[in-house]
Amino acid sequence: MTDYVIAIDQGTTSTRAIVFDKNGNIISTGQLEHEQIFPKAGWVEHDPKEIWNNTREVIGTALSKANITRHDIQAIGITNQRETAVVWDKNTGEPVYNAIVWQDTRTQSIVDRLAGDEGLERFKSKVGLPLATYFSGTKIVWILENVEGAREKAEAGDLLFGTTDSWVLWNLTGGTDGGVHVTDVTNASRTLFMDLETLSWDDEILEIFGVPKSMLPEIKSSSEVYGHASGHSLLREVPIAGILGDQQAATFGQAAFQQGEAKNTYGTGNFLIFNTGEEIIHSENGLLTTLGYKLGDAKPHYALEGSIAVTGSLIQWLRDNLGIINSAPDVEKLAATVEDNGGAYFVPAFSGLFAPYWRSDARGALVGMTRYVNKGHIARAALEATAYQTAEVLDAVNADSGVPLTELKVDGGMTANDTLMQFQADILGVPVVRPVVAETTALGAAYAAGLAVGFWSDLDDLAKNWQEDKRWEPSMDQDERDRLYRNWKKAVTKTFDWVD
Ligand code: G3P
Repeated sequence: MTDYVIAIDQGTTSTRAIVFDKNGNIISTGQLEHEQIFPKAGWVEHDPKEIWNNTREVIGTALSKANITRHDIQAIGITNQRETAVVWDKNTGEPVYNAIVWQDTRTQSIVDRLAGDEGLERFKSKVGLPLATYFSGTKIVWILENVEGAREKAEAGDLLFGTTDSWVLWNLTGGTDGGVHVTDVTNASRTLFMDLETLSWDDEILEIFGVPKSMLPEIKSSSEVYGHASGHSLLREVPIAGILGDQQAATFGQAAFQQGEAKNTYGTGNFLIFNTGEEIIHSENGLLTTLGYKLGDAKPHYALEGSIAVTGSLIQWLRDNLGIINSAPDVEKLAATVEDNGGAYFVPAFSGLFAPYWRSDARGALVGMTRYVNKGHIARAALEATAYQTAEVLDAVNADSGVPLTELKVDGGMTANDTLMQFQADILGVPVVRPVVAETTALGAAYAAGLAVGFWSDLDDLAKNWQEDKRWEPSMDQDERDRLYRNWKKAVTKTFDWVD
């Protein structure tokens, strides 16, 4: 019997394997967290070997929990944290350095050097992105310039680069024994190297960055058979047939297939994606232009994206660095000990500020502090920060599209937090809607893979699976909303110019 599709979700804090049935229901899940390595202020790394070992283990967990084997699985989909860069030796399979995570800001001087006199928007019309430490291209340059012997090896054709989709795929398909070195258009669109029109690596940009093309994976669509799991895998011979960067996967899992549809995912960061159909729209309001998805030979769908670096990870920071909560969900209880933020605003510019500001010189600030403010207010301010940042991104989407969104589809871990979701609806002034399957990221990757092998027949087949679970209606008085939002914007300005 082959009744299921499995998705591997290689995220920032953990790796999951989730088995889905034809109705998009979750049958079983395996999940393991990996270490977050912070060698210096602003540096964030992961161990790629740990990620690969965890991937193998969670696949085993998901299969055994569902009491199934590879014979029950029709296809494998992969989704991943997007801009995190891994460089490895193709002859040994050993990474030459830890993965440099999307949140890492060490490449600031490389960004400044590349911007030169032409500025941060130098490549934007071609690749849709400003120069920023966020994207994987600058991280490859750092590895080539700072890891002994890396440049020589890369030039000799011995090194491979990949975001974690490619790293997992290469290992899953045999590694040094015939591993497939491929990525999809959505991940490629986060490197700074892919031409949005041709969907191929841009030779001129590669030359300017000094990155040998031989390191880069082949760019494929988001839904096609890239290869099969190798003989050593529990999933051996099962086709790997879908790859989508995690935010695009969530958009797909939310069935936001058509132009004008959008979703907002609450993870370590927040990412609002607005589908612009077959049209490439360049933002005038600080959003990125990116790939939405491409199904086999069909035309690609593009998107505008508002990326926010720190939302859920601020709650982890309250837990790990301040110790004012024992677990992330406890933040809701602590925030509920007070009625409001007590005048405190917390702007978590830990990795600079992403959309809509793109200020790499920004650093976090907790402002409005008085003797009155206690840890309940700080918890509340941390939660509110997620909602204000989302409001700023939604304003930008509305300004770029000219047609304001009338409701916001949401997903991700923090959507379990009722206080936050109500506050989000209040600050936006539009309803916030969560689907029954909130694991939309993994679901989107499963959909892409299942479509390629005929497990699902078309997008209509998928759209039928979307069901509303909960809706939060705005109920805050307009004056109060305006006051809070105004104060937030003032707080944001206090974070600028903090890097010497
Ligand atoms: O762009 C970064 C994003 O892909 C990471 O998402 O859910 O792993 O925090 P997440």
